[in-house]
Amino acid sequence: VAAMPLGAMAQAYPTKPITVIVPFAAGGPTDALARVLTARMGEALGQTMIVENVGGAGGTIGVNKAAKATPDGYTILFTHMGTLAVNIALYKTLPYDSQKDLEPVGLGGTNPMVLVTKKDLPAKDFKEFEAYVKANQKKAQYGMAGIGAASHLGGLMLNSMMKVDVLEIPYKGTGPALNDLVSGQFDYMVDQAVNVLPQIKAGTIKALGVSTLKRLPQLPDVPTVDEAGLKGYEVTIWNGFFVAKNTPKNVIDTLNKALVTALGDEKVRARLIEQAVDLPDPKDATPAALGAQLKASIDKWVPAIKAAGVQPQ
Ligand code: MLT
Repeated sequence: VAAMPLGAMAQAYPTKPITVIVPFAAGGPTDALARVLTARMGEALGQTMIVENVGGAGGTIGVNKAAKATPDGYTILFTHMGTLAVNIALYKTLPYDSQKDLEPVGLGGTNPMVLVTKKDLPAKDFKEFEAYVKANQKKAQYGMAGIGAASHLGGLMLNSMMKVDVLEIPYKGTGPALNDLVSGQFDYMVDQAVNVLPQIKAGTIKALGVSTLKRLPQLPDVPTVDEAGLKGYEVTIWNGFFVAKNTPKNVIDTLNKALVTALGDEKVRARLIEQAVDLPDPKDATPAALGAQLKASIDKWVPAIKAAGVQPQ
C-alpha cells in the first residue's frame, strides 16, 4: 500500500471497516436509523460499518469529532438537522460550521415526531395536557436530548406555542430519555416516532399528538397537535450521512451508491416505513439534494426559533 499512488489508494476505498459517528446515545432514533441503513450499506461496500455513539451537548460533540476526522471516508457521520441547522440559532458559538466543515453524502430518512407523556400524567388528550402544563409551570418537566436536539426543537416549539415555561431535562439521547419517561421520571417529550412507537403500542407511555399536519397511519387515533389546538405546529426531522470537508469525491460517490442501494432494498424500506420513517426515493438521495435540504432547514428554522423568542446560549 505504501508504494501506491494516492489516486489508486482512493480508488481502492473501502479497504477496512468504516466508523459511523452517531452523535447521540445508543437505542435512540438516530442510532436506530443509522444501524438499519449501515448494515445494508456495509454489505454493499463489502466492509463492516461500525456505529460509534458519541453523545452529549445536543449532538455537537459527535458532529465536531466527525467534522475534524481525517477526510478519508473511514470516519463518517450520521446525524439530523437539529445538530446542523437548528442549533445555529441556539448556541452563541458552535465548534463547527455545518456547511463549511462537512460534505453531504445523502439523505437517510425523515421522521415525524410524537408528543408523548408519562403514563400517569393526569391528561387524557391534548387539551387536558395543555391545561395541566399551564397549571404546573416551572414544575412540569420535559425531556430532551440537549440544546439543538430534535426533541429540543419539538419541545421548544410546543412550549413556545403553548406559552409555558417548563423545566428542561437534558439527556445524551432520547433512547435513555425514553427509559426515564416510561418509569415516570419526567412528564413529557416530543420525540421521533421511530423511537416511541413501540412504547406507545405497549401502553407504557401516552401519545397525545403527532407533529405532522396529517395523522400517522401507525397511530390513527392520535390527532395532530395542529388539529388538537396548536394551529401551525409542524416539525419533521431529516437525517443524513456526512463526511469531513476535503474527503475525495470518489469516496463520497462510493458511500452515496451504498446508501442508494440500502434505500432501494425492499426489506430495509419495509422495516423503516413500518416505523413511520419517510424514505427518499433512492434516485433523489444525492449529495446535492442533501446540501440543499440543509440550507433550506437553516433558512427555515433559524428565523423561526428567533421568532419564538428563544435566546442562544
Ligand atoms: C434528538 O432528540 O435529537 C434525538 O432523538 C437524538 C437521539 O437520537 O437520541
